[in-house]
Amino acid sequence: MATAAPDVDEVKRRLRSRKLPFVLDVDIEAKADLIAEVLRLKAKHNVVILGHNYMEPLVFDLSDLEERGDSLQLSMYAARTSASTILFNGVVFMAETAKVLNPDKRVLIADMRAGCSLADNFRGPDVRALKERYPGVPVMIYINSYADAKAECDVCCTSANAPAIASALPGDRVLFVPDILFAQNLETELRGRKEVLFPGKGNDVRGAVCEVHERFTLEDLRMIRGSFEIPKGHASRIVYAHWECRPDVLREADVYGSTSQIRSDIARRVKEGRLEKAFVASECELTTNLMAEFPGVEFATACFVRCQHMARITLDGVLTVLRALDAGTDLKAWEVSLDRATIDRARRPIERMLEMSTAAQNRVG
Ligand code: 13P
Ligand code: SF4
Repeated sequence: MATAAPDVDEVKRRLRSRKLPFVLDVDIEAKADLIAEVLRLKAKHNVVILGHNYMEPLVFDLSDLEERGDSLQLSMYAARTSASTILFNGVVFMAETAKVLNPDKRVLIADMRAGCSLADNFRGPDVRALKERYPGVPVMIYINSYADAKAECDVCCTSANAPAIASALPGDRVLFVPDILFAQNLETELRGRKEVLFPGKGNDVRGAVCEVHERFTLEDLRMIRGSFEIPKGHASRIVYAHWECRPDVLREADVYGSTSQIRSDIARRVKEGRLEKAFVASECELTTNLMAEFPGVEFATACFVRCQHMARITLDGVLTVLRALDAGTDLKAWEVSLDRATIDRARRPIERMLEMSTAAQNRVG
């Protein structure tokens, strides 16, 4: 059901009360009318704005609380939304996933150039080349991939469910594509239970890495532990890392997971009154959003680590798309379109992941 959009004064009041980090009063004065217009058009046209955890605070804030999250959560929201239009504040492979799950809905993204070094460098033909070397081995593809690559695979996974999905697959081997750092981390996690095959491991197929997370080094983490006084094993000072980081970075971290698992771990420790300081080895806007949500925690920041693709999604860009929708002009520049055959083939691995994730959640619960 559409909710009434706040007016400009209400937007200002809300933003001031939120005390978003790095958002000054001058930003609020300059942008409140744009934000109010986005929210008005969102309500008028029954648009759901899905927001990834890496969006800058004012863009992240355009999504309702239950429309924000990591890539698994956003695919789940996309699968069950009743809105007629989905505007995806994330990168193109995420918007494609939403389209695959909602072929009859309009899926828009503010900048079609919002790529991903993982998805961009491993496409359908790369999956086929690798599959030929390992006939019969189930192929699990990271969600950071385009629909043509997913269409070649048995099941999809995200950083929130990769070990659980891999463990549930039949056989003692799994072929994981395309992230070779993630694959090495998964190999460690599943040692003794399942063999993980991946690009470049005993084969000549080139895989991909996340251009953001590969930048963190063991030395960086050690330096941060020293400078910010976060010693290893401390009860209330924690270093977090995302699964896409290098194996030695994951080993150095106290906790690792997906963006939302990191958030949940922080929320739990805050609730239990035992989180003083944290550093998160991931895209820096995640930390900014965590700072906004957990003002009592002192976060060390490393804002040289931004994802250039996620950063393409801006407030102005979002407003441009919504104005075009409102004016009834051609939306081709922002609309995700996939052919029906690719949608049908890519839907199976995504739906299988969603079913397996739900089954795992039910078992835990
Ligand atoms: P999450 O699934 O943890 O949100 O990660 C997506 C991503 O692109 C990480 O860089
Ligand atoms: Fe892709 Fe890395 Fe950017 Fe995530 S942070 S979208 S994995 S390039």
